[in-house]
This record gives sequence, C-alpha cells and structure tokens, in this order.
Amino acid sequence: MTLGNEALLPPQRFPQIGDADDARLAIFGGSPVRRAPWPTYDKGAVFVHAEDEEAAIRAIRSHLYFRYDWRPMHETECGRLEAELCQYFGTAHALATSSGTTALALAIIAAGIPAGSAIALPGFTFVATPSAVILAGCKPVLIEVDENLHLDLADLRRRWTPDIKAILVVHMRGFAADMEALTSLAADMGVPVIEDAVPALGAELNGRKLGTFGLAGAFSTQSDKSLNSGEGGFLITNDGALFARAVVLSGAYEGRFRQHFPDAQPPVPTDLDLPLFSFRMDEIRAALLRAEMARLPVRLENFRANYEHVAAALQNVSEIAVRQPVAPGAYLGEALIFRVLCGDAEWFARALCREGIDARCFGSSQDCNVRVFWNWRFMFGTADVGAIKALLPNTSRHLDQAVDIPLSSTLSAADCDQLVQAVRKVAAASRRQNRRPSEPTAALR
Ligand SMILES: Cc1ncc(COP(=O)(O)O)c(C=O)c1O
Repeated sequence: MTLGNEALLPPQRFPQIGDADDARLAIFGGSPVRRAPWPTYDKGAVFVHAEDEEAAIRAIRSHLYFRYDWRPMHETECGRLEAELCQYFGTAHALATSSGTTALALAIIAAGIPAGSAIALPGFTFVATPSAVILAGCKPVLIEVDENLHLDLADLRRRWTPDIKAILVVHMRGFAADMEALTSLAADMGVPVIEDAVPALGAELNGRKLGTFGLAGAFSTQSDKSLNSGEGGFLITNDGALFARAVVLSGAYEGRFRQHFPDAQPPVPTDLDLPLFSFRMDEIRAALLRAEMARLPVRLENFRANYEHVAAALQNVSEIAVRQPVAPGAYLGEALIFRVLCGDAEWFARALCREGIDARCFGSSQDCNVRVFWNWRFMFGTADVGAIKALLPNTSRHLDQAVDIPLSSTLSAADCDQLVQAVRKVAAASRRQNRRPSEPTAALR
C-alpha cells in the first residue's frame, strides 16, 4: 500500500495547532497528543481506596458471605447497603442484586408485566437492556432516538401498539432521558415506566435523582459504574408490592423474604408463588459498596467537573456537535459524545485513537459495538445489517455520526486538556481537508 497524499504533506500544512510537528496528525505519522494509555476501568483506574479494601477484607474475615443467615437484616452488609441506598435516593425500598441486568429483569417481572408483553425502549442502549426484557419473558420494541441520542417521543407514539405494557427508559451514557415527557406519555397510555439508570448512578434531572422517576429504577455496580464491586447491582422503588415480589424472585426462599419486613406483614403471602432466580448480592460486595458510598459525592464531582471542562472547551468547534442534555446539568459526565457534522466519524475516531485518546465511532463497521442495535442479531433473525438499520433509520444515522470517549472520574486536568487538544487537532485537519483525509499505510494504523 502507498502512503496517502496527506501523509506526504509537509508539516506547514497544519499551522493552526502548536508547532509544525505537533500539528501533523499522528495517524499520518505526526507526534500524538499523548502517549500514556487513556484511563478507563479496564486499564486499572477503578476508584477503589484503601478503606474499601479493608471493608471487603472485614467481610471476608467474618466468614458470613450469604446475606440471609441468622443475623437480622440491619446487621448484614446487604441489609445496611439497602438502608443506605434508600436514604441516598429517598426511596422506601432498595434490593441489592447480582447485576444491573438482573435488577432490570426483576423490576419488569415484579411490576407484574405479563410474560409475552411488548416493552418499548430506545434504539440506543447497551445490549443488556433488551436482554433484560428477554430475560423477563417479554419482547423488546425499539424506538428511534433523536440527534442527541434521547428517546424520540413522536416515534414512540407512532410505533405504539396495545401490546406494549411498559416503557423502559434508559439514561444512556449517563444522560438523563426526558422523564417529564416520558412519564406523562406513559400515564396517557396507562403503562408504567421502568428506568434503566445503570449508566447514571448519582446523576440528577432538575434536582431529582435518576432512577426515582419511574415505578422502579435499576442500577449496576459493575466496575465501569459510579460504584464498583466488579459485578453487582440494585433496584429501588417506592412500591411495596413490587419490592416484595422482587425480593422473593431474587431468591429469599423458605421464609427469608420476611427478614425484609421486620415490623410488618409482607405484601406477598409465600415465597413459592413466584419462581426463584438467585439474583442476590453477597456480603463481600455489599461491604465494598458501602465503603465506596462514602466517597461517591467526590467521584460524582470529578465526573461533573471533567465533563463540564471538556464540553465547554469543545462547544464551539464547528466540525462537531457535542451531545446536549435534556436540561442543564442532567448528566453524569462519564462519557463525551459528539457527532461529526461533515466528514467521516469512523475516521475521526480512528485519528483520535492515534492521538492517544480512546474514541469509538458507535456505527463503525470495524467494531462490533454492543451499544449499537444492528449488532443485536438475536433480536432480528437476519444477518443483513442494511435491513436491520432500515428499521430505525434516524438512530442509524445518528450512531454512524457519533464518536464516544469514556471520561473516567480519575482523569486529571492534564488528561482533559489533552482530550480537548486532540479533538481540536483532528477537527482542524478535517476542516482543512473538507473531505475525508486519505488513509495512512497499514503500518500506521
Ligand atoms: C444501559 C445499561 N443497562 C444495563 C447494563 C447491565 O449492567 P450489568 O453489567 O451490571 O448487568 C449496562 C451495563 O453496562 C448498561 O450500560
């Protein structure tokens, strides 16, 4: 393969950014903006502190790993975690689970949505959302998202059918969905809203925590989330009957579910009226999470400060459109997403990677991203990507244009500045090209 024309251009073609060598894109052999790995949880930056380790070790040394033993609920790690979650979210009930996916499935089943029902959800989410619907015995119905990747309410109305029995809202990549509009539409249709708040633990919309708007909210504590126990999750609700059913379904068998109701008659009579799924959390994870909750506000503040800094610095870059929230500040700040307005988002992301920033174009054909609906082959019974994309043409277009960059809460100010510098550098190069720049050699990829 020969070098692309741009790789041969002298550095003075790129005068706007720093000195000549700095301005030449790394994808064309210039110096990258950074050489250190971009921090994400899978590279080890997981926000676990010494006191969290000690809490987990205390639980290990207790040798009491199962949440339902002879201890009263308020003496177990899981019971205490649930009480602390209720206080944090201001809800009546919380149930610790084995994952975010199982919390979602429990919420759907415990809400009494009959098996076989259709459940509406946005076409842009993590694959676990439709998977949880299937786990609950229901059928996912995908709805278009708008250019800011929020669920498109007009499309939801258009695609409505009487067999849709719930709306599963997702605060994807930490950005709040428009809960006022969605809960009002759900009320019109007479169905509940369940929130997949997995990516938005701690984020708020107009001063109210995400996960508290619907009938139930589901969260994950997998390593990538605001609280990190490797795997885990929880659901929150104010609905006592839903909660009691979820407790039984999660595996509080042989009367153990009564431990959740020490002062009252449980609203479910027996624990064998429902199947048992063993979606429980264990004591070691709960101890770890309880310790981490003490520093959750600091972590949330880091997310927010980093995001605000980066988003503000990129707001006026004309080649991109930074994802807009449904209300001021209605996001966690765990990811920067922007659309590439003219040019090739896949190339843009690849150029950013070469500058040392982990960036992915959602719609990249090179990358089987699990957040992209046309990769969910289990739902469509066809391998024809074109046919699947045609089911949600707007979502397909927006995802093809979108670049996604993870923003760890451990990013330093220098990391954020390098991100801004790299995006501006790539944007400036594409501005000058006003077309997709030529590919580098295979060796440079
Ligand atoms: C939107 C969304 N829903 C659900 C899940 C599933 O959570 P878990 O991995 O804990 O099952 C994820 C995981 O990242 C997610 O992003």
